[in-house]
Amino acid sequence: NERQEGRPSKQRLLVVANRLPVSAVRRSVDSWQLEISVGGLVSALLGVKEFDARWIGWAGVNVSDDIGQRTLTKSLAEKRCIPVFLDEEIVQQYYNGYCNNILWPLFHYLGLPQEDRLATTRSFQSQFDAYKKANQLFADVVNNIYQEGDVVWCHDYHLMFLPQCLKRYNSNMKVGWFLHTPFPSSEIHRTLPSRSELLRSVLAADLVGFHTYDYARHFVSACTRILGFEGTPEGVENQGKLTRVAAFPIGIDSERFIRALELPQVQDHIKELKERFAGRKVMLGVDRLDMIKGIPQKILAFEKFLEENPNWRDKVVLLQIAVPTRTDVSEYQKLTSQVHEIVGRINGRFGTLTAVPIHHLDRSLDFHALCALYAVTDVALVTSLRDGMNLVSYEFVACQASKKGVLILSEFAGAAQSLGAGAILVNPWNITEVAASIGYALNMPADEREKRHQLNFMHVTSHTSQEWAATFVSELNDTIVEAQLRTCQ
Ligand code: G6P
Repeated sequence: NERQEGRPSKQRLLVVANRLPVSAVRRSVDSWQLEISVGGLVSALLGVKEFDARWIGWAGVNVSDDIGQRTLTKSLAEKRCIPVFLDEEIVQQYYNGYCNNILWPLFHYLGLPQEDRLATTRSFQSQFDAYKKANQLFADVVNNIYQEGDVVWCHDYHLMFLPQCLKRYNSNMKVGWFLHTPFPSSEIHRTLPSRSELLRSVLAADLVGFHTYDYARHFVSACTRILGFEGTPEGVENQGKLTRVAAFPIGIDSERFIRALELPQVQDHIKELKERFAGRKVMLGVDRLDMIKGIPQKILAFEKFLEENPNWRDKVVLLQIAVPTRTDVSEYQKLTSQVHEIVGRINGRFGTLTAVPIHHLDRSLDFHALCALYAVTDVALVTSLRDGMNLVSYEFVACQASKKGVLILSEFAGAAQSLGAGAILVNPWNITEVAASIGYALNMPADEREKRHQLNFMHVTSHTSQEWAATFVSELNDTIVEAQLRTCQ
């Protein structure tokens, strides 16, 4: 082992997230195909190399038989992943229900789904019970593999109950919790029937992290106003117990993108795309097909731009990659039809026999195709209505070293706080403003593009996912040492 060979062994890091970085597709009774999952958390943690990391999470598939569970556990072990098995009922109530129909829209200031608001309110308690049950199942798996000295890092709104479950098993466990979405104003959090239980559980962690200072501040306010605890510069204090709360803005593995651009297959893609869209400026949107991403609003803004600028109609194309997500939740199904309807209408209105203004794809692209697309883009449109951080904006910047394209970025994405100086910031609800920004971006002189790009590029390449994870874990280790010192005093 590493210690015997005189090399210090890496600290074991147990990353617990609802979704594993791979999702499993069953090929036969005992064989599985593993595919990389989409999402910001996955792309950030894939770049983290300095810990002996293991992932604990759901493989995105229902496996109720012993052979299936055994063989999947074995296949995943090769990827250092440990599955948590959730049955269909739990997935329905916990994942589709409480996580994606209640917490997700609420944390993004979208409120409960309009049409079935009352039904959601009625099923609230049973969904919350399923949420707690699911969190307990995650805790059981963590507890089984936990060894003294491990760091346990819980992720996201799916697992707000986990810190408390883990500390009940072992109060000495080092537990961190990080939220990848916004934490909303305490006035929004107050409306949640389970508001106090969730806050108390998160506070059982030693360190609580958010992408921005604002989210951290909202969380501390919720704890002071709802629980009556004390907010301090370090975090939240109650009866002598301090939970550290801080902002840790995530980044990407920028080198991975920069290196990919040199690969022959990516260069081939770039060449094809340049030929395909010769004579037209390329605008790009890459989003999960989620209501927080503001895809309909973005497309309407593009329509307005075409309406007001007839000279641009055959000179610009919008490529919108909309990766399907949470397809069992009815709000997402409605959104898909809505987007298709708008795209169809605009293409009918402004298309010609040889060209359409919007290319809309309902699927993900492989990594190399995505890098090529980022590289040929003139203007990227990231117009989320709310977004924890938004790493598409970072990925675009990383791939723009030669083109120096423009980033139009929502002021409601966490990334606006780090890329605000180089991007054009917009209010995504204001389609007149977004349409005007599209015009500004397409006409921007080269020296301004260069300056803006440099600011963003410097940020993206110096604030990486590796650094993010290392900072969080070292802060967690320090927090525990400080707490021990305080108890000794
Ligand atoms: C967001 C969340 C992640 C989640 C991802 C994909 O980025 O913060 O926790 O994994 O969306 O969503 P899904 O529901 O497919 O896991």
